[in-house]
Amino acid sequence: MTYSFTYTVMAPDQLSEVEQLLCRKAAEATRGSYAPYSNYHVGAAVLLADGSIVAGANQENASYPCGTCAERTALHYAQSAHPTLTIEAIAIAAETEAEAQASDAAPALPYPCGMCRQTLVEAERHQGTPIKVIVTTQEQAHVFPSASCLLPFAFDA
Ligand code: THU
Repeated sequence: MTYSFTYTVMAPDQLSEVEQLLCRKAAEATRGSYAPYSNYHVGAAVLLADGSIVAGANQENASYPCGTCAERTALHYAQSAHPTLTIEAIAIAAETEAEAQASDAAPALPYPCGMCRQTLVEAERHQGTPIKVIVTTQEQAHVFPSASCLLPFAFDA
């Protein structure tokens, strides 16, 4: 058996206008991050079927497991506020304190963690259509046509 999928690597300015806006919203959302423990500020922005965008950031806690990733913050907000709207895409951006201070540092791509992948896959199954995942830095964007690409054999009860 072979599991494979196709994804695209491009410069952010090669994305569509709306996807560029989504990436900017994800980067802006890092300002709402509360990350005093990791100093890793993640922002996520979700594009809904009516063109609206909902964003969120990671929120940490002194009791570490209480913290929530940016992707789930944004996704759960979108699902709570707009339960009838299909989620078309999610963009993810991040910034560390070191990167904020030294602009020449090459940032790592902020791929979603396993828990966020599982959450995205369930949202896809629930709505019956794929969610495009755009993982972005200033230099490049990795575009996955569906969250399910990132989590083969996802758990399903
Ligand atoms: N984080 C996210 O917000 N998204 C991910 O997909 C992975 C990690 C956050 C959690 C924590 O606040 C910080 O990044 C460091 O792990």
